[in-house]
Amino acid sequence: MNNLVRQCVEIIRQKTDFVPSIAIVLGSGLGDFAMTVDKVAEVSYEELPDFFPISTVENHEGKFVMGYVSGVPVICMQGRVHYYEGYTPDQVVMPIRVMRELGAEVLIVSNAAGGIKDTYRPGTLALITDHVALFVPNPLQGPNDPEYGLRFPDMTSIYDRRLRRIIQDAAFSSRVILDQGVYVQLPGPSFETPAEIRMLERLGIDLVGMSTCMETIVANYLGMKVCGISLVTNYAAGISAYPITQEEVDTEGKKAAESFKQLMVESVAKIYEYIESDKNLSSNA
Ligand code: HPA
Repeated sequence: MNNLVRQCVEIIRQKTDFVPSIAIVLGSGLGDFAMTVDKVAEVSYEELPDFFPISTVENHEGKFVMGYVSGVPVICMQGRVHYYEGYTPDQVVMPIRVMRELGAEVLIVSNAAGGIKDTYRPGTLALITDHVALFVPNPLQGPNDPEYGLRFPDMTSIYDRRLRRIIQDAAFSSRVILDQGVYVQLPGPSFETPAEIRMLERLGIDLVGMSTCMETIVANYLGMKVCGISLVTNYAAGISAYPITQEEVDTEGKKAAESFKQLMVESVAKIYEYIESDKNLSSNA
């Protein structure tokens, strides 16, 4: 195991032997979901060694919350770190590696995003169907440890088709409206210009943000099943006449928190059923 990841895992293991099945990254404004967790343990990022990144963004807390949602063992990252904060790609994805090492088999990411697609409004929840990560460094650069994964991992179905189907069904049964789209991670921290958004639109991109892809690439590489949900907090630059502010991003997050929570509670239970039945099938094969 990577030495730095091992050090983090050892510290967490001194506090708890809880084994999560599903890891959930809570994006801007969506951190309150952690309050629905029937909590077993909590580890603040500050308890971990210095190389473990700590969010410098306002309204992003920094801790792992472990416990049960609908009876399913989960670990939530309440507060993620971003590449634009000045952390190295290795640091940005370190929490994903740690959660994987603790036992998580599935990663659900959430984020706040600017909406490009014309069906989106601020407050829209959208399932991520695919991504474009070419504008940020690839977090797998550097020597590869084959103990973890392949040198050239396939990314054809990075956002697991079956998980997407489950989340769509969960949205339907919990009466949450769920759109979908292709997400791009840009380096940030400045928001985009209208010309950049026009360019992205022509490239087939629907959602624009400053997180997620580096994390999902590593999770997929590590063999996790991955899915993601964006909350459209604002029209992307130039789509409405108004400038984009961090306040509107945070306000929309708070407004959508309840639908997001319903969707997650329902999805987590169904995803867990799926991964457990998948295991039974393969052990009987
Ligand atoms: N652009 C980039 N990142 C974002 C946006 C945006 O418009 N909204 C929320 N995160």
